[in-house]
Amino acid sequence: MAFNPELCRNESEVESKLIVQYLLPQLGYTPEAWHQEVAVGSIRLDFLAFAAQVIPFVIDANSPLSVVMEAKHPKQNLNNHVPRLRFYLTKLNVAYGLLTNGKEIRIYQKVDTDIQLIFQCFGKDVETKIRDIRALLGRNSLNEIPLKNNSVTPVAETANVTVPNISNNIFDTTRQNTMKTIAIYHNKGGVGKTTVAINLAAALSQKGKRVLLIDIDSQANSTFATGLVKFQFDEEDDLRDKNVYHILESGDFNFIQDIAQKYQYFNNPEIDIIPSHITLIEYQDKLNKIAASRARLVTKLKRVENNYDIVIIDTPPSRDLYAEVALIAADYLIIPSDLKPFANQGLPTVKSFVRQVNEYREVIGKSPINIIGVLPSKISTNAKFLQHTFPRQRDVISERYDLPLMESVIYDRTALSESMNQVLTVGELEYPDPKSIIKFAELKSSSQVSAEEFNVLAMEVLKKIGVN
Ligand SMILES: Nc1ncnc2c1ncn2[C@@H]1O[C@H](COP(=O)(O)OP(=O)(O)O)[C@@H](O)[C@H]1O
Ligand SMILES: [Mg+2]
Repeated sequence: MAFNPELCRNESEVESKLIVQYLLPQLGYTPEAWHQEVAVGSIRLDFLAFAAQVIPFVIDANSPLSVVMEAKHPKQNLNNHVPRLRFYLTKLNVAYGLLTNGKEIRIYQKVDTDIQLIFQCFGKDVETKIRDIRALLGRNSLNEIPLKNNSVTPVAETANVTVPNISNNIFDTTRQNTMKTIAIYHNKGGVGKTTVAINLAAALSQKGKRVLLIDIDSQANSTFATGLVKFQFDEEDDLRDKNVYHILESGDFNFIQDIAQKYQYFNNPEIDIIPSHITLIEYQDKLNKIAASRARLVTKLKRVENNYDIVIIDTPPSRDLYAEVALIAADYLIIPSDLKPFANQGLPTVKSFVRQVNEYREVIGKSPINIIGVLPSKISTNAKFLQHTFPRQRDVISERYDLPLMESVIYDRTALSESMNQVLTVGELEYPDPKSIIKFAELKSSSQVSAEEFNVLAMEVLKKIGVN
């Protein structure tokens, strides 16, 4: 089927599907030649692509040839956004601007202190028009005809725009091409691993990250909670032959893209999910006999490292093969814990398991897993508890167990179980209709506190794994 950006449903889909996945590569801009969410003083650009890369980047009359691309929601009328684009291009002395809402694509060129429309087409025609677009904005064409028609005499005002820390700004927003994989693990059950895994994945996705969630727990709670279990009866089970086991079963087929699914009502933007299945238990012995199965997730993830920014793995509450596979594949580890005595007493086991996994990682040439920390989860909101007990519980983690403690806290909120347990009634039948807390908060405002706690967690995680 031909690519049709008119089917983009929201602004972030216009950004990801039309601009990132289609236009930028088609126009010859490799990932290091463009930047997303560029802050220049008070201006925030959706995308800035460079035909000629100059570092440090200084915005003045000699700015390298560059293109600003602005994505809008499909319901937005582009006319309303022309003044802003004019301001960006003239203020920053950028030669070209592309403006699109998916339904329509326009290209403007800066001419002195104004901009002129030089190209326009429907989104659905983008493939047939791509040669025209390439002739105007392609990296090669811009390099061949430097400053084509562009004002050679810069406007006095823009000639000396000095933007503080511009080179830092550009540097900071350089696209991270390294996919980061995070395992959510504790050998105790019921501490909130699954809740953290699915909602952290949703919060990261809402921040524009391309997220893959892998469920490798035979209880398949993440698979349920993300809405992939749509069947009511065994014979309708479509996950039995297409789940995470199949990724581990063979090195030659069943790659990530063959198994990944999405459920559009769970979160917006959607995330890709590798489901799990109860039959993982019976297959464990078989996999245990094949030494290579331990590293298959690593090699298969490597093949999709340009497709995702972040991979989250939800793990079983045990020290079994599946937990091992997860910790071998992950770069980082988050250990959710309710900080109660039983969970604490499991921490030395987590640490010895990590040591064991690190030995294997060394054999396959991977550095030791990076422990982001223990994440306080299901924490009571009782004021007395928070004042007296909670601080002591937190101190214990570093003092007695010598593990880092995360700053974020996931409190005990009924909205979290409620969002996961939404159902849809069709006639006599009830179907699971789960939502992420992020999506649920849009429907039920009292859930916003909890959603915000996951936003804060997502920000801490991004900071600690070095992703902007
Ligand atoms: N922060 C929280 N607030 C309220 N309920 C929670 C919270 N975290 C988890 N739960 C509930 O506790 C139970 C166990 O959580 P789950 O995430 O499945 O833990 P695990 O994956 O570690 O076994 C589930 O019923 C879940 O809805
Ligand atoms: Mg779980």
